[in-house]
Amino acid sequence: MNYFHYKDNALWCEEVPVTEIAGKVGTPFYLYSERTLKHHFRVFDAAFSGVPHITCFAVKSNSNIAVLRIFIAEGSGVDIVSGGELYRALQAGVDTRKVVYSGVGKRVDEIEYALGADILMFNVESSQELEVINSCAERLKKKACIALRINPDVDPETHPHISTGLMSNKFGIDIKKSLEEYRRARTLGQLEIKGVSCHIGSQVTKISPFLDALERIKKLVRLLRDDGMDIEYLDLGGGLGIAYDKEDVPHPSEYAKAIIDASKDINCTFIFEPGRVIVGNAGILVTEVLYTKSNDAKNFIVIDAGMNDLARPSLYNSYHRILPVIDKEREEIIADVVGPICESGDYLAKGREISRFERGELMAVMSAGAYGFTMSSNYNSRGRIPEVLVRDDQFFVIRKREVYGDLIRGEVIPEFLR
Ligand code: LLP
Repeated sequence: MNYFHYKDNALWCEEVPVTEIAGKVGTPFYLYSERTLKHHFRVFDAAFSGVPHITCFAVKSNSNIAVLRIFIAEGSGVDIVSGGELYRALQAGVDTRKVVYSGVGKRVDEIEYALGADILMFNVESSQELEVINSCAERLKKKACIALRINPDVDPETHPHISTGLMSNKFGIDIKKSLEEYRRARTLGQLEIKGVSCHIGSQVTKISPFLDALERIKKLVRLLRDDGMDIEYLDLGGGLGIAYDKEDVPHPSEYAKAIIDASKDINCTFIFEPGRVIVGNAGILVTEVLYTKSNDAKNFIVIDAGMNDLARPSLYNSYHRILPVIDKEREEIIADVVGPICESGDYLAKGREISRFERGELMAVMSAGAYGFTMSSNYNSRGRIPEVLVRDDQFFVIRKREVYGDLIRGEVIPEFLR
């Protein structure tokens, strides 16, 4: 459920026509619906209301500080993977006791920053990282609360680039070695063992892989407790998928029910790290058609957004629905929707059955709220595009369009070239 809808053949976001925003902000831009963001957060969080839990929104999916603030006001914590994400979350006013820090490559300065902020827990991904966190904590005269991120070796049946819980992936600690690693962690004086964590992958559209992972993790929790360790938190990561097209995806309440039913015998506070399921369908990318052209083989629709603005189709061949902002009777054609970047991989849709668009028309690329702006870049020296938030009948630019000056900010011509 989201609040993008057609009214008299025009696409609206809540009570604002998309064309009005495009007229004022220019194209391309990301557009988020506050009502949808809130609704999705509430649905997810309420699904677990019967059990102790913390919902830690995955900042990597959408890190705009205004967006973070919406969730934080709803009681959300955050899952971070870098010092930069911690900085953003702090700017947005997060309760640091609701911050979990995941990621295979935490640097010393980042660990120290997080220790200084008194975050809830580090999800540790290697035995060397345990040592490093321990020595950082020693230096800062602090205790570091940790969970080990376990690689449960289950197949989430998603795109290989976004599956993370298999032995062939770089993530986490081999479940077979986990007891041994926990025992080692116990010997390190500055560490406090708090929990177990795992994250099996993203855009997971079935419940069974989550349950497979949970079964394995539960066994480990029992082992650890029998060994005298106090396992308070069970962090099950994120990963619940959304419908980009016609996929049949579990509703958060089904996912929650399955997890709650399967963990009746384990007395833990759950942590969840949802990203996509909260923000994915709460955002769109609005772009203008620059040119159309055809050759013997193909029709091309050239738009003003490219792979630097939305990388997902080029990276994962992912599908995003494309809708006209002003709907009318149109001929259907098969076309590639391509951006201005000088790469053949620069497309938002390939061989798509799509309405015939004309130069100057607006297009809405749907389900672009997760891993959209956050993965965008300045490639081809294109400024990153604005993010706009609609609330009821008003809209707010929550990130300005980058200007040429932003592109060279921080660059220096050394003396010898002057
Ligand atoms: N927790 C951890 C440790 C993660 O690595 C991720 C995502 C999440 C939570 C949130 O997962 P979600 O609920 O959003 O599925 N760029 C890719 C997705 C990469 C996901 C990376 N990790 C895409 O555009 O599909």
